[in-house]
Amino acid sequence: MVSVLVDNIGELVTNDAQHGDGAPLGLLRDAALMVEGDRVAWVGERRFAPAADTHVDVAGAAVIPGFVDSHAHLVFAGDRAQEFAARMEGRAYSAGGIQTTVAATRASSDEMLAGNVARLVAEMQRQGTTTVEIKSGYGLTVSDEARSLAVAAQFTDETTYLGAHMVAPEYADDPAAYIDLVTGPMLDAVRPYARWIDVFCERGAFDADQARAILAAGAAAGLHARIHANQLGHGPGIGVACEIGAASADHCTFTTPDDLDNLAQSGVVATLLPGVEFSTRSPYPDARAMIAAGVTVALATDCNPGSCYTSSMPLCVALAVREMRMAPAEALWSATAGGAKALRREDIGRLEVGLRADFSVLAAPSYVHLAYRPGVPLIHAVYRGGQHIA
Ligand code: NIG
Ligand code: FE
Repeated sequence: MVSVLVDNIGELVTNDAQHGDGAPLGLLRDAALMVEGDRVAWVGERRFAPAADTHVDVAGAAVIPGFVDSHAHLVFAGDRAQEFAARMEGRAYSAGGIQTTVAATRASSDEMLAGNVARLVAEMQRQGTTTVEIKSGYGLTVSDEARSLAVAAQFTDETTYLGAHMVAPEYADDPAAYIDLVTGPMLDAVRPYARWIDVFCERGAFDADQARAILAAGAAAGLHARIHANQLGHGPGIGVACEIGAASADHCTFTTPDDLDNLAQSGVVATLLPGVEFSTRSPYPDARAMIAAGVTVALATDCNPGSCYTSSMPLCVALAVREMRMAPAEALWSATAGGAKALRREDIGRLEVGLRADFSVLAAPSYVHLAYRPGVPLIHAVYRGGQHIA
């Protein structure tokens, strides 16, 4: 197998606390990283680097693990720019806009849907994302949810069935019948393509009992749970996530101290989506308080045409630092290792021997610049499984 030494790294973030001063980022200075095939073969100070077949000299730049964007809704058609403009003129965000995207998605061809996902995944890769989770949820019929997940599965292993995004318009007068569909024929149809199941547990979408029933049906079919929780107000979503042992409770915009204790005790990851608060002018969650309470925090984009149409993990890192009181080191950890935990993945999110060689070379001497220089394209080169992808 050919070995490649990425050499002359000014600052290497490994997320392996065995390196450096014992902090979670596992920082190494004057470092090198050896890749063999799609794996990390060696990590350390460059003066100890083993011989390799080829060298890539990054001239003192920082190298970070690839971002793990553990929450994105990429299978959709159209956009909702006018809704965004109206919101910026004072109208409040309401999840009702989802139906606009449902209509556009149903009217779209498989090829158009796949083309849109390809465009967004490429955008993400250029910004340092090497793993993305992709949800359905804009189909809301058996065939539209199944094809949404079939499209998603062309791009990632981290596919999530979100038939319970909203009650489909045809079932507005009979939500119980829609839940029967979501937990019955629709679940059967998506199963070959889905790893996860998700529910929008919120007033106006699905309540706690409905969420429990939907996630239990998913679990019986072998799908693992994650939940849209506490986005628009205080509610039962986080409680349900902790009770059933979901991998992650996502959004967590409105929390009580009990919610934080519950997350910390149960080990459910809180996936924060600061682009949503930014794009909907909502209050940011207090990540500082969550970390102080012992909660594991992940950061993701939530890329979707309604509440947050950014594909940029660097923007989310900058917002988390500026608006959610995370330290730059915490935000970077949450956007990489934290995302991997939210997806229960042990092979990504860190740069350790044997793990997948997913990393970015920055056009900066330190990862701190991701927050310090917001909006600047600092992702210089991106490698996934050892291959240069962007
Ligand atoms: O995660 N909360 C529900 N779903 C999306 C928004 C979907 C939309 O507005 O189209 C979210 O924010
Ligand atoms: Fe979402």
